[in-house]
Amino acid sequence: MVKICCIGAGYVGGPTMAVIALKCPAIEVVVVDISQPRIAGWNSERLPIYEPGLDDVVRQCRGRNLFFSTEVHRHVGDADIVFVSVNTPTKTCGLGAGKAADLTYWESAARMIADVSRSDKIVVEKSTVPVKTAEAIEKILVHNSRGVRYQILSNPEFLAEGTAVKDLFAPDRVLIGGRETPEGRAAVAKLRDVYAQWVPPDRIITTNLWSAELSKLAANAFLAQRISSVNAISALCESTGADVTEVAHSVGRDARIGPRFLSASVGFGGSCFQKDILNLVYICECYGLPEVAAYWREVIRINDHQKSRFVNRVVSSMFNTVAGKKIAVLGFAFKKDTGDTRETPAIDVCNGLLGDKAVISIYDPQVTGEQVSRDLAMNKFDWDHPRHLQPLSATDLAKQVAVAPDAYEAARDAHAVCILTEWDEFRTLDYKRMFDAMHKPAFIFDGRNVVDPAKLREIGFVVYAIGKPLDDWLKDMPAVA
Ligand code: NAI
Repeated sequence: MVKICCIGAGYVGGPTMAVIALKCPAIEVVVVDISQPRIAGWNSERLPIYEPGLDDVVRQCRGRNLFFSTEVHRHVGDADIVFVSVNTPTKTCGLGAGKAADLTYWESAARMIADVSRSDKIVVEKSTVPVKTAEAIEKILVHNSRGVRYQILSNPEFLAEGTAVKDLFAPDRVLIGGRETPEGRAAVAKLRDVYAQWVPPDRIITTNLWSAELSKLAANAFLAQRISSVNAISALCESTGADVTEVAHSVGRDARIGPRFLSASVGFGGSCFQKDILNLVYICECYGLPEVAAYWREVIRINDHQKSRFVNRVVSSMFNTVAGKKIAVLGFAFKKDTGDTRETPAIDVCNGLLGDKAVISIYDPQVTGEQVSRDLAMNKFDWDHPRHLQPLSATDLAKQVAVAPDAYEAARDAHAVCILTEWDEFRTLDYKRMFDAMHKPAFIFDGRNVVDPAKLREIGFVVYAIGKPLDDWLKDMPAVA
């Protein structure tokens, strides 16, 4: 029996290994983590992450050939293939702060693998890492090897949160990069055999190590670029009376462009896009390519601009002040079908509104009040967020922020509703009921284009929707910067 151990039981390690265990009953898969609560969650009835379909997969194979454990050393030592799926955040201090990937967790995982290994191992980079990381990892392993032989593979993960199980069941592609030596090719073949249990052969791409590492950063940069491109166009739509949904539809019908990932919004979030682009920017700078770095940096700048633009629109529409006004925030997760709030645009929008002294009431079906408080209290960095959207003190936060049990409670006695996540349930709310319970004029600011502006205007709302023609009220308000 092949034994797989995955270091890191997070959003990637957990679902990925659960699907491998489900599809490969002859392989034993152990997911290990230094976080005891995380492992306890994976071993409980309430998994530590929300992901549609994941409960079912875990239920089918946990205890059979899928295990979650904090006994990191033992399971790494026993494994033939070790996946490393630890977090790789942006460095917050020192050389490359604000851009470079922080490989502390990765390096400590690599040193630990070297310490506990007594048999040959294939070490698989699952985390997103800077191009050339495999070389550094190889050096750590080889210099501490005590006769154990290692092959490093790059197998970046392309799943998207919210659709992780679906993506893992039927991936667009699985990418495996390895050394172009006989041993390297054998290691690639071994990992390919695992995926070949359920992924069609033409969807398994093998490349050299550096292509695989760089492809992941490039793919995320391209995806984020599409969002920033359509968001840049959304600003122009609002100024000209064009409708961004119509423009995106027309543009996306060009087969060379394609229809997906062209929805305008309040901005992209999530743990990956910003960090991976910053990482790409840093790598470009390190290789003496400042123009290329500046090109990709602009994708983040437009994203920050989109969040600031949204906040400015809310404030300027409401007579240039939201001080003391209650604003309902519907949705806090960075997108629907996940409870993940890492880098969610809601943090910046809420901080912007709080900075203008609004009182906000937040409802999200998957995000707890504790998580909201943690996120809004977090001290971010200048590079990370638009400068004027910085957090308040804990005392002011407690006074100005509440978490509501549902959308109606959030909107009761509110002056405005901001929709910040595209949860399906927000499409079918009884907006008339909300309108009746709100102060007038009642505003809706739809940051995800989930409502029909015409219908809400009929109810009596003043409606702003990203990239849609402005109603007369908003046209009369001062232009937003
Ligand atoms: P995460 O933060 O949810 O999980 C990482 C886990 O690794 C944590 O539970 C942490 O306790 C554990 N860990 C850290 N150091 C460890 C060590 N030395 N030994 C044992 N466990 C350790 O992170 P997530 O979201 O799963 O991301 C992991 C990697 O995958 C990152 O590089 C990310 O960029 C990449 N990725 C993330 C995607 C996503 O949608 N979240 C998608 C594709 C790639």
